[in-house]
Amino acid sequence: MIIGVLNIKGGVGKTTTSMALSTAIYRSGKDVTIFDTDPQGSATLWSQAAEDNGDALPFEVLSKNQAEIRRLGSHRPDKDGQVIVIDTPPSGDVINEVIKVSDFVIIPSTSSPVDLQQTLLTCASCQDQGKEYAVLIVMARKGTTTLEAFRTAVEKSGAGIFDAEIPLKEVFKGDFGHSFPSNLQGYEDVWKEIREVEA
Ligand SMILES: Nc1ncnc2c1ncn2[C@@H]1O[C@H](COP(=O)(O)OP(=O)(O)O)[C@@H](O)[C@H]1O
Ligand SMILES: [Mg+2]
Repeated sequence: MIIGVLNIKGGVGKTTTSMALSTAIYRSGKDVTIFDTDPQGSATLWSQAAEDNGDALPFEVLSKNQAEIRRLGSHRPDKDGQVIVIDTPPSGDVINEVIKVSDFVIIPSTSSPVDLQQTLLTCASCQDQGKEYAVLIVMARKGTTTLEAFRTAVEKSGAGIFDAEIPLKEVFKGDFGHSFPSNLQGYEDVWKEIREVEA
């Protein structure tokens, strides 16, 4: 299975989602690899730093360019139940290539009204290509009106949205350069929901 993680908005938790979700996938007993298509290489840097800290991640992070992503369309590397999670930059042609090859697209977004428009545009790109996708609310502050308003707006647009929400937790910043603690703060549920849809 190929899971694309994308949003044309930057700083919405794409890399954090790729890393934490891959950890959840790994812990469920699956073979998982991250393909990092962001020229800034945040996922790659995370993996390298973890290795340097003697706390290596339990899965590989491989840097991949647009041509390599396009080739996944005809050369699927996930035949034996392997899961590929693709982390993306907020802009560039590679985003469309990732949508094309993905079986499922996760669109992380904060519930800030500022993120809504670009999140819905990203949803529309997936919709146009007939892809399974869902918005994942991250950095969520439970019980706030913006959180409820955001969920309602996404639902009203007809876009898919995960029941699971990832809370705003300082611990996510401390995880850079390390593997994740046992509590993945809801990313386990995100993986469960994807498996239910893909089953
Ligand atoms: N659930 C969360 N709670 C708190 N901080 C978070 C959470 N998810 C991501 N962050 C922080 O938000 C910032 C942007 O996240 P990142 O995953 O790098 O976004 P992107 O890849 O979309 O640019 C980082 O500093 C990251 O540590
Ligand atoms: Mg990133």
